[in-house]
Amino acid sequence: MTFEKTILITGGAGFIGSHVVRLFVNKYPQYQIVNLDKLTYAGNLENLKDVDSNPNYKFEHGDIVDENYINELFGKYSFDGVIHLAAESHVDRSITDPMAFVKTNVIGTCNLLNAAKNTWKGNFEGKRFYHVSTDEVYGELHDPSEFFVETTSYDPRSPYSASKASSDHFVRAYHNTYGLPIVVSNCSNNYGPNHFPEKLIPLMINNIKNGKPLPVYGKGENVRDWLFVKDHARAIDNIFHDGRNGETYNIGGNNEWKNLDLVHLLCDLMDSRLEKEVGTSRNLITYVTDRAGHDLRYAIDATKLMNELGWEPSVTFEEGLAQTVDWYFDNWSWIENITSGDYQKYYTSMYENSSK
Ligand code: NAD
Ligand code: TYD
Repeated sequence: MTFEKTILITGGAGFIGSHVVRLFVNKYPQYQIVNLDKLTYAGNLENLKDVDSNPNYKFEHGDIVDENYINELFGKYSFDGVIHLAAESHVDRSITDPMAFVKTNVIGTCNLLNAAKNTWKGNFEGKRFYHVSTDEVYGELHDPSEFFVETTSYDPRSPYSASKASSDHFVRAYHNTYGLPIVVSNCSNNYGPNHFPEKLIPLMINNIKNGKPLPVYGKGENVRDWLFVKDHARAIDNIFHDGRNGETYNIGGNNEWKNLDLVHLLCDLMDSRLEKEVGTSRNLITYVTDRAGHDLRYAIDATKLMNELGWEPSVTFEEGLAQTVDWYFDNWSWIENITSGDYQKYYTSMYENSSK
C-alpha cells in the first residue's frame, strides 16, 4: 500500500497522544501513522484498541532516549512529518525523579531533532517537525488580568516545566540554526477520556467512586485552565497542516478553575451519577501538604490560533466534563486495569520481543 505521507507520532499510547493518533488514523487514511512509544507506566495500548488493526496504523515499541534506535527508525521509514508528544508529563514525579525528565524530555527530543535533520538533509519540502509543549514553561501568573501569550518570557519553575522549556528551546534552535521546519504549541491542562489516574480530574473521579479521600494540595486555591483533550487533538491537526513554519501557537480553553471549585463540581456530578445525596462526596475532601514550588495560576490567551487558523473549542466545560465522567462510568475496567497493573502485563508482554 502506498501512502501520501508517513507521519511519526511519538507518545501515541499516552493520554493526549492516543487522541491524536485516533484522529489522524481515521481522518487521513491516505497517511501512514507510525506510533512510537516506550510504554512507560503512562503508555497503554488499550487506549488505541479501536484503531490498531487499521491498515494505515503501525506501532513501534521504542525509547526516544536511545539514539541508535531512533536513527534506525528514521532509516526504516521515510517520515514526512513528526508530531512529538512522548514525554514524562507529571509534575509530582518530576519532583521526586528529575533526571527521568531530563533524559526523555530533553535528550529524547534532541535525538528526534537530530534524526530529522540528518535524514531530511536540508531537503525540507513537505517536511514538518511538530513539538507539543505545555503552558507550564511560562511559569505562574499572579495578576488576574494577565494571560500567557506566545511572546511571554519563559520562567519554568518545576523540573517538568524546565525540561519542557529546554526541549522547546532546542526545537527553535534547530529551526534557527539548520532551517528545520518546525512548529511548537503550548497548551493548557487537558482533561477527558483515557487520562491517567495520577492527574487531578481522573484521580478525583476514581477516588469519589471508591469512597477514598480526595487529596487537595494546600488550600486548593491554585488555578488551571482546562481544555477537552479532543479539542487539543483538533488544534494539533490544524497547526500541523496549516500553522506557519517556525511559529508557536498557544492552545487553551479560556476556562479557569480553582482546584477546590473544580473538585466540588466533580463531587456533585459524581453524586448525581452514583445516586447519592448531592454533597456526600465533598466530605471526602482532605487538605494535604502543598506541592513544592506549586505554580499558582496558568491561563492561556489562544487568540493567535483562533484568528490565524479558525480553531476554537468544540465543547463547553460542562459538556466536556459530563462526557468525561460518562466515559469513566462506561469504562471502569480501563482504570481498574491500571490500578491493578494488569494493563502493563498484558500489552507490554505483546511487544517485549520487539525492538526497544
Ligand atoms: P502521558 O504521560 O499520558 O503520555 C506520555 C506517553 O509518552 C506515554 O505513552 C509514554 O509511554 C510515552 N513515553 C514516555 N517516555 C518515553 C520515551 N522515553 N520514549 C518513547 N515514549 C515515551 O502524557 P500526556 O498528558 O498525553 O502529554 C503528552 C504531551 O503533551 C507531553 O509532551 C506533555 O508535555 C504535553 N502536554 C500535556 C498536557 C496535559 O494536560 N496532559 C498539557 C499540555 C501539554
Ligand atoms: P495535575 O493534574 O497534576 O496537573 P498540573 O500539575 O500539570 O497542572 O494537577 C492539577 C492541579 O491540581 C495542580 O494545581 C495540582 C493539583 N492537585 C491536587 O490538588 N491534588 C492532587 O492529588 C493532584 C494530582 C493535583
